[in-house]
Amino acid sequence: MKPIKIGLLGLGTVGTGVVKIVEGHQDDLSNQVGSPISIAQILVKDRRKTRSIPIEAAKLTEDPWDIVRNPDIDIIVEVMGGIAQTKEYILEALERGKHIVTANKDLMALHGQEILAKARDKGCDVLYEASVAGGIPIIRTLVEGFSSDRITKIMGIVNGTTNYILTKMSQEGAAYADVLKEAQELGYAETDPTSDVEGLDAARKMTILSSLGFRSNVDLDNVSVRGISGVTQEDIRYGKRLGYEVKLLGIAERQDDLFSVSVEPTMIKTTHPIAAVNGVFNAVYVHGEAVGETMFYGAGAGELPTATSVVADLVAVIKNMKLGVNGRQAQLSYNVMKLKSDDQIASKFFLLLHVEDRAGVLAQIAQVFSDCDVSIESVMQPSTPHQSSTEIIIITHQASKKAMNEVLNAFESLSAVRRVKSVYRVEG
Ligand code: NAP
Ligand code: HSE
Repeated sequence: MKPIKIGLLGLGTVGTGVVKIVEGHQDDLSNQVGSPISIAQILVKDRRKTRSIPIEAAKLTEDPWDIVRNPDIDIIVEVMGGIAQTKEYILEALERGKHIVTANKDLMALHGQEILAKARDKGCDVLYEASVAGGIPIIRTLVEGFSSDRITKIMGIVNGTTNYILTKMSQEGAAYADVLKEAQELGYAETDPTSDVEGLDAARKMTILSSLGFRSNVDLDNVSVRGISGVTQEDIRYGKRLGYEVKLLGIAERQDDLFSVSVEPTMIKTTHPIAAVNGVFNAVYVHGEAVGETMFYGAGAGELPTATSVVADLVAVIKNMKLGVNGRQAQLSYNVMKLKSDDQIASKFFLLLHVEDRAGVLAQIAQVFSDCDVSIESVMQPSTPHQSSTEIIIITHQASKKAMNEVLNAFESLSAVRRVKSVYRVEG
């Protein structure tokens, strides 16, 4: 039987996994799709580099156009990364009627709508399951599994590097800079770890998840982003004393035609299942009006977990080819939605304040909360030897982001509050 020919762009971590799974599971795969699958050509930057798996030298090329313009190639699997050049290759491949499977969240978060529009125009498939939460089939779950429901909240640990760092800081008391170095050495972090630790990688993934979950066009600019570089051991310790873990959470919420998306370090109740997701693992919690609460857990990166999702997309494309239904993905962004303003976004908050330690200070602080219409849930003052200053930790009831900003502004002119050391959203 005529094999389906694949052009693989990239033979790094994920590309190597794709070759291993396509070759190692060939019988299973060809039984599922009704044809052998052949990786016919592979793009690399350096053909002379030693590879960890045996690869026929004749299959390797350093020229992307050899693959993109090869009429024998049916499907392009893009696992090279990059944005501008990679987009050019993908658009050209679509122009030539080739289907695309990609793991590239950067590309899909920034140019997904344009690429998907081109694919629809050309009757081609573009699938990108591996772009979010590597080995967890969360995209297919949102698009197919929950097609019958209206999703109201998606809350995820979608960056393994930051979860690894926060886990080590919480469980071992390790310093932020030391664990970041370790995460880089272990290969979890992106080439430039700024995009991991400052939340951009997670924001790109949340752009993809919220667009699919809310069936709307969510732009990266719609995501409010704060990374973990400001998280201290003190925050983690006080959080634990009150029953919280600090996690970098992507949170997308929808009410009717209003939505919000954020990525920020968040105090999550230790009783919430997402608080127990540790190390490089990812998890995505999804709430739907009909289904209620669900959660999906697994490896968010790595050679074989990520390649599992890539090859599953490949199988889906080939099945569509056999049925002659490529490019018939429904228009998924039909909801016209508006971004919530700060007075429409509400959560509980955790505040760590450095304050003067004298009679009446707590009353002054409580007055500020009262003036801004923010209700306090609990207050903790750790017992310290009597000094001129101390720490106070306050957890609020639900309050709008706007009201909380008013509280923080008012503290700037209250001399009893020497410094607002930390503010966190609270969940769970
Ligand atoms: P990687 O290990 O750095 O591999 C990149 C591969 O692409 C290498 O084989 C490299 O060639 C080739 N390449 C890069 N730029 C090229 C260029 N301009 N021309 C020709 N070849 C080029 O990357 P990766 O970790 O596999 O990630 C690939 C993609 O998957 C990225 O979009 C990433 O965000 C996404 N992803 C990765 C993971 C993960 O766990 N790693 C998880 C989810 C998604 P050489 O081998 O010759 O250097
Ligand atoms: N740097 C990413 C992470 C890799 O840490 O999750 C997977 O996208």
